[in-house]
Amino acid sequence: MKKIMLVFGTRPEAIKICPLVNELKTRRSIKTIVCVTGQHRQMLDQVLTTFNIVPDFDLKIMKDKQTLFDITTGILEKIKAVLEKVEPEVVLVHGDTSTAFVTALACFYLKIPVGHVEAGLRTHNIFSPYPEEFNRQAVGIISQYNFAPTPLAAEHLLKEGKNSKNVYITGNTVIDAMRYTVKENYRHPELDWVGDDKLIFITAHRRENLGEPMHHMFRAIRRVLDEHPECKAVYPIHMNPIVREAAELEFGDCQQIHIIESIEVIDCHNFEARAFLCLTDSGGIQEECPSYGVPVLVMRDTTERPEGVDAGTLRLVGTDEEVIYSTFTELLENEKAYAAMSNACNPYGDGHACKRIADILEFGSYEPWIKQ
Ligand code: UD1
Ligand code: UDP
Repeated sequence: MKKIMLVFGTRPEAIKICPLVNELKTRRSIKTIVCVTGQHRQMLDQVLTTFNIVPDFDLKIMKDKQTLFDITTGILEKIKAVLEKVEPEVVLVHGDTSTAFVTALACFYLKIPVGHVEAGLRTHNIFSPYPEEFNRQAVGIISQYNFAPTPLAAEHLLKEGKNSKNVYITGNTVIDAMRYTVKENYRHPELDWVGDDKLIFITAHRRENLGEPMHHMFRAIRRVLDEHPECKAVYPIHMNPIVREAAELEFGDCQQIHIIESIEVIDCHNFEARAFLCLTDSGGIQEECPSYGVPVLVMRDTTERPEGVDAGTLRLVGTDEEVIYSTFTELLENEKAYAAMSNACNPYGDGHACKRIADILEFGSYEPWIKQ
């Protein structure tokens, strides 16, 4: 049996890798081992419960207001013993988190082959998003198997000198996850509260936005909500206490926004599918909303997911208060501008990425999502 270990630690990694864990478990020639770093705690555990996954190892490294140093040293110190005990033939990591980077580094030190799921996304600016662009480039140097979600991601890897035999175009596993989560007859008390009003869905957490940029983002949203009583905003807040302080200050007494605790992924995907508009600095949400034709204002200066921008569903608005205010207002007041952004499209995958990745690992061959 081929021993494949999957290591992840945050909510978005879990959402995108749990469907792969479950696919690998169906393969007879593969022994699947799950190690979580616990970079996140409650937000990670929520997803594990949704996908019925019980980790074999848990490094439990999360600290309140942890720094990049805390995460890096915490994982590096603890993961060595797990890797030496399990001796996996391949370790799979996902995306761009510090969990992915540090795990890949540990595997490199122990000469264990790494497979990178969601490989090849790039902004080419290691400070934006920070530290994620560095993390994914660093994993890219180490990884032997490169599971690129899109042709563009594969192109980036080939330009960086990766051998084309090790670059696979699989689609993004988040689309696989959405096949499982989004339901026609879904109901939730928050959606009842919104009723026939326009649901504005908000999330925010990026490290480079903490502080002043986040206050600007929130002030812009607040101004628009005050001027548009037909909107009701639902904002499942990140557990980072710095985000909470900013949200409390800027939205504290606003009746049109419900700031709620982090919601389960099933709720999140269904809220997105029913939203009028989404404002976010998240990575994953930029991939999810296009499937439902829900326009997204991306409150960041760069995106590693330009496919949605090209398709017209995403618009980069940065963190400037006036730009967010005017773009958000335009989409509420100008039907044509809104219609131009609200076409459903699926530039990130077809929902069969996990099968492809498992085929590559089990048989060494697969049917690409899109041929280059
Ligand atoms: C991390 C990832 C980021 C990803 C994001 C998804 C890195 C460096 N950053 O950023 O790429 O987009 O996750 O959400 O890998 N907290 C809790 N409970 C939880 C989770 C977080 O209390 O379950 C609080 C803790 O105080 C923690 C803080 O949030 O210190 C920040 O968590 P951290 O993983 O350091 O950063 P994120 O901003 O979540
Ligand atoms: N998400 C969730 N509950 C929430 C907020 C987000 O399940 O309360 C999901 C969302 O659907 C997406 C992922 O978490 O799949 C995105 O996570 P996040 O924005 O924290 O990280 P990023 O994608 O920016 O790395």
